[in-house]
Amino acid sequence: MDMAKTDLIAVVGCGYVGLVTAVGLAEQGMRVRAFDVDPVRLAACREHQFPMLEPGLEDAARAAGDRLTFHNVREEAWPHPAFTFIAVPTPQGDAGYPNLSMLRQVLMWIADGRSRASSENVIVIRSTVPPGTARWAHAEIERLIGGEVPVVANPEFLQEGRALQDFREPSRILIGSENRGAAEGLRDLMAFTSAPVIITDTSTAELAKYGSNAYLAMRISFANEMARLAEREGADPLVMLQAVGLDPRIGSRYLKPGVGYGGSCLPKDVAALVSMGSAANEPMELMRATQEVNELQRRRIIRTLADALEGLGGRRVAVLGLAFKPGTNDVRDSPGLQIARELLTAGADVVTWDAAVTSDLLPAADAELSVIGDPLEALRGADAAILCTEWPEIVDLDFSRAAEMMKGTLLVDGRYAWDPLRASNAGLDLVRIGTSRPVRHAAVSA
Ligand code: UGA
Repeated sequence: MDMAKTDLIAVVGCGYVGLVTAVGLAEQGMRVRAFDVDPVRLAACREHQFPMLEPGLEDAARAAGDRLTFHNVREEAWPHPAFTFIAVPTPQGDAGYPNLSMLRQVLMWIADGRSRASSENVIVIRSTVPPGTARWAHAEIERLIGGEVPVVANPEFLQEGRALQDFREPSRILIGSENRGAAEGLRDLMAFTSAPVIITDTSTAELAKYGSNAYLAMRISFANEMARLAEREGADPLVMLQAVGLDPRIGSRYLKPGVGYGGSCLPKDVAALVSMGSAANEPMELMRATQEVNELQRRRIIRTLADALEGLGGRRVAVLGLAFKPGTNDVRDSPGLQIARELLTAGADVVTWDAAVTSDLLPAADAELSVIGDPLEALRGADAAILCTEWPEIVDLDFSRAAEMMKGTLLVDGRYAWDPLRASNAGLDLVRIGTSRPVRHAAVSA
């Protein structure tokens, strides 16, 4: 492919993946037009105020200057770019299967600018989509336009909180394509990284994305299940898992027990695999168990708290952490938010704190949830506090001051992040998810 023509890139969808892709490519000197349907979001993006907390992203967008511009798909036609990256949401739909309606709308928009579309206008699906989607999109575009437009599956592996860094230095670049020229064109476009490139067919690339997230989720559920048993047996969960992870065949990452995984990707992708398995008559038993263990963790932390407080009605509970993990202000499928909701439903008096989530970032249905800006203030008068997100402000909590602020003495550690000795020295009782007895294990350094 003629690299001069790769100069203009379109990115459709100004969410997490789209913005990181747009900014990341503009940073490499390419001219990028980013599209979305939401005028409010576009206006904020033009001011380089992005809806998510992502280190370096706004600065990099500012530095790209005029190379990165923002446009509304409802007002502008598809500009016939060399590459069109589609990064629209594929939310969990019926029975866990991803809903592809937004992807379909983008294809219709592309088809509206039909006149000159050809094999020089590669469409790149960056959203997470089930195997067969790129092939379907290719046929759909052909049907709508009547010409050959390559459709490539190029899943991303960005982690929230370090997404721009992951874009610059990905672990691998995965290109699924039935058209060799298009695959090589995309590989050349991404030549700014030294990451290994895998070129394969579209279904293999699409499924590999699910496989990666599902494997991470499965490890977390494994760690959680083993940690619960360890608590029952009086073993130290962290040392036990550290010992497991030191086997180089296993590795120590994603073996941290806690309240379970959340976010917009892992839960959705595990559910999608369960659904795909049912449709293909290949039951995904490990995925089902992974889901069940994850749900159990959230229920169990509430039971632990209810047992220790002898009921939740009227008890004041501080939920520390609403983001689904530290380093982000994303509350999608957040364990902390779900726990706060359930405590409210059970009649508890709930106050919350988070380092990045403010009440305006919560869904409208959570309007009655009180979010307090200072962690110690959130503890004032509390019968108990639950750690749901391991923000440094909470991991390093001044336990003596916490003990002064609280009415009760109960701390529930949903992330195995607090040092039990420090807590007990301050007169606080620390319990973890799997047990309602205070823990006495020595803390383990990484
Ligand atoms: C995840 C994957 O890690 C990315 O590779 C992928 O690109 C992305 O989904 C996506 O599909 O777009 P992300 O959703 O940002 O990234 O979240 P992770 O950092 O993987 O964390 C997921 C959840 O697992 C969090 O709730 C975290 O607290 C939890 N977790 C993680 C644990 O409970 N224990 C661990 O040891 C690690």
